[in-house]
Amino acid sequence: MDQRTQVFLLLIFAPFLVLANHQTGGEDVLGLNSLKALWTNTPASWGTPDPCHNGWDGIGCTNARVVTLTLSSMNLTGTLSGDIQQLSELQILDLSYNKGLTGPLPEEIGSLKKLFNIILVGCSFSGLIPPSIGSLQELVFLSLNSNRFNGKIPSSIGNLSKLYWLDLADNNLEGPIPVSNGGEPGLDMLSHCKHFHLGMNELSGQIPPKLFSSNMSLIHVLFERNKLSGSIPSSLGFVKSLEVVRFDSNMLSGSIPVNLNNLTTVSQLLLSNNKLGGPAPDLTGMIHLQYVDLSNNSFDASDVPPWFSTLESLTTLKMESTQLQGEIPAALFSLPNLQTVVLKNNQLNGILDIGTGDNPQLELIDLQNNLISAYNGGYNGTLILVQNPICTGKSLSYCKISNSADVISYETLSKNCVPSSCTSDQVSSPNCKCAYPYEGTLVFRAPSFSDLENSTRYKELEKKLTDYFLGQQLGDSVSLSNVTKDSLSYLRLSLEVFPYGQDRFSRKEVSNISFQLSNQTFKPQKYFGPFYFIGDDYQHFAVETEVPSESKKSSNVGIIVGAAAGGSVLVLILLLVGVYAIRQKRKAKRATDKNNPFGKWDVNKSSGGIPQLKGARSFTFEELMKFSNNFSEVNDVGSGGYGKVYRGTLPTGQLIAIKRAHKESTQGGYEFKTEIELLSRVHHKNLVSLVGFCFDQGEQMLVYEYVANGTLKDSLSGKSGIRLDWTRRLKIVLGAARGISYLHELCDPPIVHRDIKSTNVLLDNSLTAKVADFGLSKTMDDSGRDHVSTQVKGTMGYLDPEYYMTQRLTEKSDVYGFGVLMLELLTARRPIEQGKYIVREVRIAMDKTKDLYNLHQLLDSALGLGTPLKGFERFVDLAMMCVEEEGANRPTMSEVVKEIETIMQLAGLNPNAESASSSASYEKSSPKHPYSNEAFDYSGGFPASKIDPQ
Ligand SMILES: *[C@@H]1O[C@H](CO)[C@@H](O)[C@H](O)[C@H]1NC(C)=O
Ligand SMILES: *[C@@H]1O[C@H](CO)[C@@H](O)[C@H](O)[C@H]1NC(C)=O
Ligand SMILES: *[C@@H]1O[C@H](CO)[C@@H](O)[C@H](O)[C@H]1NC(C)=O
Ligand SMILES: *[C@@H]1O[C@H](CO)[C@@H](O)[C@H](O)[C@H]1NC(C)=O
Ligand SMILES: *[C@@H]1O[C@H](CO)[C@@H](O)[C@H](O)[C@H]1NC(C)=O
Repeated sequence: MDQRTQVFLLLIFAPFLVLANHQTGGEDVLGLNSLKALWTNTPASWGTPDPCHNGWDGIGCTNARVVTLTLSSMNLTGTLSGDIQQLSELQILDLSYNKGLTGPLPEEIGSLKKLFNIILVGCSFSGLIPPSIGSLQELVFLSLNSNRFNGKIPSSIGNLSKLYWLDLADNNLEGPIPVSNGGEPGLDMLSHCKHFHLGMNELSGQIPPKLFSSNMSLIHVLFERNKLSGSIPSSLGFVKSLEVVRFDSNMLSGSIPVNLNNLTTVSQLLLSNNKLGGPAPDLTGMIHLQYVDLSNNSFDASDVPPWFSTLESLTTLKMESTQLQGEIPAALFSLPNLQTVVLKNNQLNGILDIGTGDNPQLELIDLQNNLISAYNGGYNGTLILVQNPICTGKSLSYCKISNSADVISYETLSKNCVPSSCTSDQVSSPNCKCAYPYEGTLVFRAPSFSDLENSTRYKELEKKLTDYFLGQQLGDSVSLSNVTKDSLSYLRLSLEVFPYGQDRFSRKEVSNISFQLSNQTFKPQKYFGPFYFIGDDYQHFAVETEVPSESKKSSNVGIIVGAAAGGSVLVLILLLVGVYAIRQKRKAKRATDKNNPFGKWDVNKSSGGIPQLKGARSFTFEELMKFSNNFSEVNDVGSGGYGKVYRGTLPTGQLIAIKRAHKESTQGGYEFKTEIELLSRVHHKNLVSLVGFCFDQGEQMLVYEYVANGTLKDSLSGKSGIRLDWTRRLKIVLGAARGISYLHELCDPPIVHRDIKSTNVLLDNSLTAKVADFGLSKTMDDSGRDHVSTQVKGTMGYLDPEYYMTQRLTEKSDVYGFGVLMLELLTARRPIEQGKYIVREVRIAMDKTKDLYNLHQLLDSALGLGTPLKGFERFVDLAMMCVEEEGANRPTMSEVVKEIETIMQLAGLNPNAESASSSASYEKSSPKHPYSNEAFDYSGGFPASKIDPQ
């Protein structure tokens, strides 16, 4: 090549050189840029050249390829470009709640073979659902509800053999429900699918009998408000897993199949507003029925069916206009859970006997327009007997129609504080802080209850939501209001989530919150039944930080050239450019390594790609030097084998702790990367959080939040001057347990700490425990194995003997270390002191028949031995269980958390005082957890945390 040619090539291919030097795969950059070209209101970060490297909001990457695109509630407008097919590694697509997204869903979506989640709830997409969607073999979660799709449901959806969740509700879909036929696929093939949410469309024709069989594992079958005709197929009775069934508001006729009665796990059954005939169905076998609505059908005239008085779980019975006659059995009203009875417009007669009426939940009995002639009193809820003989010419209280309110007056109140008066558009949170909440509507499609005035359930939901978002330090509190029930019996609630530690959310936070709701990661209590969420546009995004202004222009040129791609000439050119770029890259590398904190993590090296960080930032050596006042002695707050810890102050005023490794103890780049990735991913009140890191000029430093009161060990040894009485120790041990439990049970993949000890538990100003130092941590293998074989690491005295011998690391190794820590808390001794091992010492001295288990000699005098140590024995029992020789005999961390909570209650303490936040961290083992039988795959097989939506 002569010089002129080189110059020529350089000029033409300059844009590619820029691309080639970027971290993100070129096709991803092109794909995203062409999506962006058709959208308005994309995040400002999308103005930077490199999606992965520059951290575009809503983009998640693995190995410099875009794997998640989650931009819900961003007020995006425009259409979805077929160029989305360039994102060939995409696994999650969530564009929910962008009402301005219109036009069709491009056929090209079918080439994104790795997709397992498509969530487009609450946009304005229209046109046909592209049949190509049926070729997405990995798809587990498909939510296209609340759009304007029309045409038929493509039969190819039947090919989605992994599909778990199918929500096409609230569109304009028409035509029949496709079932397999000859070579054609159909929905009957979706044997793993648990959710058919197809309500509020224009679907017509018969419900194909083939749709249901004993092969199906459906739990929610929702076909309400369509135009389905014909009869309900008896095959429905074979789907034994069913829990919620809605066929109401269609044009169904014929009798209800008798074998429906076999469905013993159904709790909500709505068949109202059809033309169903035959005898009123026998539901005696459906012993878990809670909510039954059969109103407005054409059943034969019949006496009150026997199941009226036998279904113990029944909360709601609605059978208006169903030709019922005879007397209502008094036993109905003594069903223990009954809340609402609506039997109006029938021919019920005789004397109304509500019994003692001592069921406080029974809110409403509506019997208007019947033939009831007498009532013997005793019930003081709402009773309506208008248009019955008993009311002829009378003006008794029950002879009036009392208007039940459309809006239930529930509203989240401030929690022990006076609401702030806020500036115009801010809102005072339940904690009385002025902020801009993220708002939206929760819609429950089939709640199992009807006592809507009872606030208990809203409070429970509120608490669950609060704990959930607080546990992730994503939301400070939530507020519920505007409870309404609409004509389809959907229960709607307005939700406001208030930001944590600031007055507004960033884009990342909004898309994170809304993803957790659109993806069903958050699970309300089961009695709320199936739900969806519609988020509002958020108007108050935090001002976005200035982005490095690497050449914006060039990436635009990239789009133009990219858009012209396809020709073989271009392929040839790309090849040439590739060769050139590699040479250039090698040259550039030396320079890059110097300035780029990620430079050392070359994709090709054993370190395996650049770190995937969430929230943590990279600092230069100079910056940290400045923040710590040249690493001055004054700021030296501790040291250890690895190096020193310095206190520093960020320009924002935030205190930080800088952990600076000795030159000789720097880890390999790989280990360092592991540590920062781990740390940036975990967020919990009881875990020290990572602010950033420095990998510059041969230094390795980690920057943490500064935890004011030092290590637990310092306090136990008296060094810090903080006296730890029994109460404080319980509180600390609970906090530490919650932190570890979070690592084990809520991180995905789970994290084993591997070095639980008193110097790794820090105490903040309010003595909240924060578990630190994930330097030796290792994530559990993803492949489903429950242990990882590794070289034994850890600290003598806390080491799990089983791990030591087998080198098999499990969560139970941390439980062992935690048991030792508990004993350390009691004795204030190091685990191994003067050749004596604390576990052995306690075991030998222990005598359960004696006061304080005969451990006086070993106990720390600072415990205040004069005062009673409530719960002491259980505490010792728990510690000893944790240090059982065999891991299998040790409790899990969530069991440890529960037991410590019980101990605290025994000691008269509130385990949730000041820390209501962390209950989410042990929720998994709670027996009452909704959908506990689908704990893992409910969200489509991948809990949201698997890939951080960035
Ligand atoms: C289901 O119901 C039908 C009709 O009531 C009955 O004959 C059949 O034995 C039941 N099947 C099972 C498996 O319970
Ligand atoms: C009737 O209402 C009062 C309060 O309004 C309540 O204390 C009482 O228990 C109720 N009686 C019955 C039988 O439910
Ligand atoms: C409200 O609902 C809760 C939860 O089901 C129930 O325990 C409580 O008794 C109800 N309260 C009233 C007054 O109905
Ligand atoms: C509740 O409804 C009212 C009236 O529709 C509306 O003005 C208000 O914004 C709603 N509140 C929330 C929190 O959405
Ligand atoms: C959404 O975007 C449109 C323009 O595309 C703008 O007029 C509107 O104010 C935005 N809404 C919010 C809530 O930011």
